[in-house]
Amino acid sequence: MPSPAEVVAPRITAAIAAAFGAAYPELTDADPVLRPSQFADLQANAALALGKKVGMPPRDVAAKVVEHLDLGGVAAQVEISGPGFINITLSNSWVAGATGEMAADPRLGVPSQRTQNIPIDYSSPNVAKEMHVGHLRTTVVGDALARTLEHLGHNVIRQNHLGDWGTPFGMLIEHLLDVGESSSEASLLESDPNAFYQHARDTFDGDPAFADRARARVVALQAGDPDTLRLWVELVDLSKRYLNRVYALLGVTLTDDHFAGESRYNAELGAICDELEAKGIAVVSDGALCVFLDGYTGREGKPVPLIIRKSDGGYGYGVTDLATIRYRAHDLHGERIVYVVGVTQALHFRMVWDTARKAGWIGDDVHPIHVQIGNVLGADRKILKTRSGEPPRLTDLLDEATASARAVIDEARPDLAEEVRAQIAPQIGIGAVKYADLSVAHDSEYVFDLARMVSLTGNTGPYLQYAAARVRSIFRNAGLDPATVGHGGEKRRIVVRDAGERDLALALLEFGSTVTEVGDELEPHRLAAYLFELAQTFSSFYEHHPVLKAEDAELRQSRLALCALTLAVLVQGLALLGVESPTQM
Ligand code: ARG
Repeated sequence: MPSPAEVVAPRITAAIAAAFGAAYPELTDADPVLRPSQFADLQANAALALGKKVGMPPRDVAAKVVEHLDLGGVAAQVEISGPGFINITLSNSWVAGATGEMAADPRLGVPSQRTQNIPIDYSSPNVAKEMHVGHLRTTVVGDALARTLEHLGHNVIRQNHLGDWGTPFGMLIEHLLDVGESSSEASLLESDPNAFYQHARDTFDGDPAFADRARARVVALQAGDPDTLRLWVELVDLSKRYLNRVYALLGVTLTDDHFAGESRYNAELGAICDELEAKGIAVVSDGALCVFLDGYTGREGKPVPLIIRKSDGGYGYGVTDLATIRYRAHDLHGERIVYVVGVTQALHFRMVWDTARKAGWIGDDVHPIHVQIGNVLGADRKILKTRSGEPPRLTDLLDEATASARAVIDEARPDLAEEVRAQIAPQIGIGAVKYADLSVAHDSEYVFDLARMVSLTGNTGPYLQYAAARVRSIFRNAGLDPATVGHGGEKRRIVVRDAGERDLALALLEFGSTVTEVGDELEPHRLAAYLFELAQTFSSFYEHHPVLKAEDAELRQSRLALCALTLAVLVQGLALLGVESPTQM
């Protein structure tokens, strides 16, 4: 279902071609330069730039374009204003017809795109470590993108790049062995992984014999010693149980199938280093194998290396990500390859991808993309920390969010049954945290402010959930099912008579292109902003337009259809963000 701009744009392009294409063949597919306008539904500004090219005043260019413009059945009015803007006002009947078609479309106007393979790396926490708020963002943003891309028809391949390998594993395995695999200490891995990690670390620092055993254990692990590997699997499995618990709490789509940890690439790292060295792309510098690339210089113009093998022979983060890009391009056939990772790793990824291109592992048809994730800040505008200086535990934050949501709902809706309030509190609390994260651009920072997040007013998850629940209650009060009145099945007759109906219809018609944009730009906050605006537009519509008591039957039916369509878009939009919609609230 094309949006108004998508319908109008090609017609303006055609008019420009008809007016000037004969003399200027390059103008056969000119950009109409569509902009929103205060004075019309759409404004086409192409004439301004075209004036110079064709040597005519822009107003005259606009007049010639309008002469050739066919917007029959779409526009009620086309006017030239100012220096040569073309103002287009859509006809009410076109708006009504398009909205009726949208109501009949089970996809609500969201197109199915040509399917791409899209591996997406997100969440990617570390074994025996607590997930912290940094991982909250990579998890929540990544999941919203995965859901949206899948909905647009892509083959999304989730890659949870778990930190499950490296030197700390010697100490962790040795600690697990000492305390016993079924001890209560071992079960900390599931309930409080940081505590387990800290105990291992303390022993390592305080007991030289343990430290020696831990170092020997790393060697055994790397050599593939079966007993050591078995313990390592046990350690990773316990950690996965913890992570799956957090994922369930958060309502993200990651499962066991999506773990593709660092260890997955072990066997390839040596060959990657050898190949890069043989191709002359990597050189030994101070004992370490490094890649130096043009254009990467630090202070005083010193070249910055991508270290792929340390001087002690160990492999680092750099070579592992060379393996991920190679695997995702070559084996997973990724066309867009998405990494949802903290903004601080931007340089790392650029160097890895440039190296991979140089090595011929990815061609021009492969697009690696770093979706950069900004920091979460405390009230002091520094990286969020607890009073003791630790990053707060994600599970604590989520529990707190649910408790705050419960307090808000107890206050706002004491009339709701106790069990309903208990059931919706986590939906609202978790939804609030997720929405707050998704409503800011993924690369900007934001302050973690729970009171604002769970508020029923403002650009918050609970506001949108409440808006949806309110539409539902219209139907409940009338004893009607929004699914039969609203979208799906037969085309609905929608009537657009006044500005309120028109504004709502026009807002609804932007859903498909908004979701498309989120998929193209990988920016979920655009969908959040859209939904917030839609909810506000609906709210002013509903204030001034009786639905069940509309003047006549045709209008009542039409307004019910608008309500049902609004509900469907809100629920579907929130679902793409990974935010639940309580049926009552
Ligand atoms: N485990 C890393 C961390 O916690 C993130 C890994 C991101 N993904 C990647 N392919 N490098 O910071």
